[in-house]
Parts: sequence; structure tokens; C-alpha cells
Amino acid sequence: MNVSSEMDKFARKLERYLDEILPKEEHFPREFHRAIRYSLFVGGKRLRPFLLEAVYSLFRKESERVLPFAAALEMVHTYSLIHDDLPCMDNDALRRGKPTNHMVFGEAKAMLAGDSLLTYAFELMASRSDFEPSVTLEAITLLAGAAGFRGMAGGQFVDIDSEGKEMTQPLLEYIHTHKTGEMIRAACLMGALLASAPDKEKEAVNEYGKWLGLAFQIRDDILDCTGTARQLGKSPGKDKKSGKATYPALFGLETSLHLAEEATSKALSALDGLGKTKKEVLEEVALFLCSRET
Ligand code: IPE
Ligand code: IPE
Ligand code: MG
Ligand code: MG
Ligand code: MG
Repeated sequence: MNVSSEMDKFARKLERYLDEILPKEEHFPREFHRAIRYSLFVGGKRLRPFLLEAVYSLFRKESERVLPFAAALEMVHTYSLIHDDLPCMDNDALRRGKPTNHMVFGEAKAMLAGDSLLTYAFELMASRSDFEPSVTLEAITLLAGAAGFRGMAGGQFVDIDSEGKEMTQPLLEYIHTHKTGEMIRAACLMGALLASAPDKEKEAVNEYGKWLGLAFQIRDDILDCTGTARQLGKSPGKDKKSGKATYPALFGLETSLHLAEEATSKALSALDGLGKTKKEVLEEVALFLCSRET
């Protein structure tokens, strides 16, 4: 499988769906709808929705059914990026190759665009799911937990609170597994949950998602040191300037590369709980992400 082209293919499908379900720019208040659409359609790998669909497809056909959940994941993720870039957070001017939401619309409006993406994600899952109500509810609960104080927001809190302070490996791992790992784990597990996969396979996918998420954020830290703005679509070198808690800051680049590989190996081992044919796709995805350049 060519992971990159499969991701692109799925991204186009997701974007058509997002375009359909989001308020149109012509609707009042137009600038609000422009701001909501701006960060969502300006680019992005669409990794989390892709993972959900890839896992679901291991177990079931008719993957169109997952689109409300895939779209919800991307909306929650995009909201987190808009807020992450705000001056009171990471203060970034470039995202997905374009000026950040607040640079275009101002801080207050960017915040509201983020808020709306977050809340609409939950409306979408609740109102458009055609899965059994109990399955729908479980998926919604999973995403809510992964995005909130037990997950992404919790990790973001400690990330912000740790700026310029001394770091330890356990705290750094907490930050990364929460601010980034939880949404990636949730994406994988949602796929298995919506497919009503057997418990053993759900557990394997959950464990895979957890390590994949950690590897993904270690790689993000590495790319902040080694990448260019053109390649990343965001301003490199920001972490060091802001005194962020990162793997390269604590361990240096070489060890960080090794630790990203180690987390990826743990993700791969978790897949032993799936059969040979099922695990192949997810193996390729993990290896692709470990050496990604964007
Ligand atoms: C960026 O996520 C923020 C992190 C959690 C590291 P992505 O690297 O998935 O960003 P997009 O969605 O492709 O823009
Ligand atoms: C952000 O981590 C994780 C989020 C929840 C948005 P970073 O702050 O490192 O992400 P980038 O580098 O700005 O994309
Ligand atoms: Mg941040
Ligand atoms: Mg940031
Ligand atoms: Mg980063």
C-alpha cells in the first residue's frame, strides 16, 4: 500500500463531506463561516480521520458510515490547532502553509471559530450517526474524553505550564501522550468500536494508537528542529525559542529519533493481537509516520 496516496485519496473524500455539512460562507454571519472553514480547508494530512477509516475498514465494508465521526475528529483536531496557535498559547503565525486563523480574523473570532468546530463535532456525531445508539454513544464518549481534561486539553495544560521549566521523562511522556496521543488513540479505537470489533482486537488497536500517538509527537518535535517552513507549513524552531518541553530538548536529536522508533516498535508489537492480513495496513501506516517529513 502507498500510505501517502491512500491518505490523500481519503482526505479528498472527507473534504467533500466536510464541505457538505458545514455552514456555507454566504450565510450570515459570513465572516464567521469563513473563519470556521478557513483553517479546516487550508490543508492538513487528515491523519486522525484516516486512521479511523483504516481501522474500521479492517472489519467492515461501507466505510461511508464513519464519515460523521471522521469529520468530527478532524474538526476537534482543527479547533485544537486554532487555539494552540493563539498568542496566549504557542503564538504561531503560520499553520498548514497559511497565516494562522487569528492572524486573518483576529484572536476573538479565531477563538469562536475553534469553539464552533469543537461543539459542531459533537452535534454531528449525535445527529448524523446511523450506528446503533449505544455504539454512537460510546464513540461520542470516547472522543469527549480524549479531547478534554483527561486527554488533549490536559496535555496542552501541562505543555503550557512546563514552558521554560526543567523536565523529566515521565512528565514529558505525559504531555505527549495526552496533548497528541489521546486523539490518535481515540481515532484508532473509534474505528474498532464503530465496527463492533471483538474485544481482543479493540484492545490491540487501542494499544497501537497509544504508541503511534507518542511516536507522532516525538517526530513533530524532531521536525520542529530539522524541518523548513515550506516543508512543514508551520514555523520551525519555535519549540526551542519558547522553552517547550520536547524530546530533542531533553534527549538530543539522535536519541529522540531512537525513541520515536522505539515507540513505533511498541505500536507494531501491539498489532500482534490482530491477524496477519489485518495488521499489514496498520504496520505500513506506523512505519510511514515514523519517518514522515511533513
Ligand atoms: C499537528 O498535527 C499538531 C500535533 C498534534 C503534532 P498534524 O501534524 O496532524 O497537523 P495537520 O492536521 O496535518 O495540519
Ligand atoms: C500541539 O502540539 C498539540 C495540539 C493539541 C494542537 P504542538 O504545539 O507541538 O503542535 P504544532 O507543532 O504547533 O503543530
Ligand atoms: Mg502547543
Ligand atoms: Mg504549537
Ligand atoms: Mg510541534
